[in-house]
Amino acid sequence: MRIVVTGSLGQLGGELCRQFGPEAVGLDLPEFDLTDQRGVGRWMEQLAPDVVINCAGYTQVDRAESDSVRCRAVNVSGVAYLAEACRRTGAALVQISTDYIFGADAARQTPYREEDPPGPVNVYGLSKLESERHAKAAPRWLIVRSCGLYGRLGPRAAGNFVETMIHQAKQRGRLRVVADQHCTPSYVGHVARAIRFLVAIRAVGVYHIVNQGATTWYDFAAEMFRILGWSVELERISSAQWNSPARRPGYSVLDPSKYLAISGRPDLPPWQEALKEYLSVRGAE
Ligand SMILES: NC(=O)c1ccc[n+]([C@@H]2O[C@H](COP(=O)([O-])OP(=O)(O)OC[C@H]3O[C@@H](n4cnc5c(N)ncnc54)[C@H](OP(=O)(O)O)[C@@H]3O)[C@@H](O)[C@H]2O)c1
Repeated sequence: MRIVVTGSLGQLGGELCRQFGPEAVGLDLPEFDLTDQRGVGRWMEQLAPDVVINCAGYTQVDRAESDSVRCRAVNVSGVAYLAEACRRTGAALVQISTDYIFGADAARQTPYREEDPPGPVNVYGLSKLESERHAKAAPRWLIVRSCGLYGRLGPRAAGNFVETMIHQAKQRGRLRVVADQHCTPSYVGHVARAIRFLVAIRAVGVYHIVNQGATTWYDFAAEMFRILGWSVELERISSAQWNSPARRPGYSVLDPSKYLAISGRPDLPPWQEALKEYLSVRGAE
């Protein structure tokens, strides 16, 4: 199978390229720009892939609130250009989406399934929801929603929670962490493995691909420092105290059981095991 991975210098795109090896061609800025409609068409015609996995995206959730034009140019128009190029060349499109397409239901306490009605609460989430609608113009499409990705940072990756916590803990012994946002941070190694499996079986439709279970950023950080054996004082704070530019869902846990029900699928371990695995492969730097 000839595979193109866009956003290949980011977190997920980089991991997918590593896992696929020579089967995949990676594209990213500056050579490949999703907002350049003609350029996108040229790349797709030249490479003629069977499958395009679009990991390119505007991923800075807070900055998107004041930079919505750029965010939408990449996440909405860019995906429309890619889907149109797929339509012309016959390629299947795998679009990576997010738990942040949900969140408007303040009373929600059960994991979201693929068919649940969306309701984003910020500019980024809305742009990703629209990206899903555009992706469906491709002749064959797969939408993979994930959450709180962490793993090795690619050269252009925007960063992740684990690396930020480790960096900050080295600067100071006390960290404030939000304790009222429930979700499932997920290890890119496992997410990429699941995407490879879905591509291999030519899956179509929407899939939630996250590690199993649910947590808060506070509990996730506490577990992380417990595994590392670091003594870091954590202060539990609310989203209101953190006061970030973008509103975030209080509950955006995704239910991966549709994926887990496919027989012979590779595993999506619980988030605690996934975190431990990443910290051990990462090494103590
Ligand atoms: N990170 C998460 O927690 C998370 C959670 C759920 C879903 N997702 C989704 O998963 C996908 C991958 O996320 P990630 O964490 O791997 O992101 P990432 O590390 O920020 O990587 C995204 C890559 O896309 C590139 N890019 C940005 N604008 C582009 C453009 N116009 N043309 C081509 N490439 C462009 C970025 O380059 P620059 O850095 O130079 O902009 C970067 O290399 C995204 O669709 C994201 O929305 C992410």
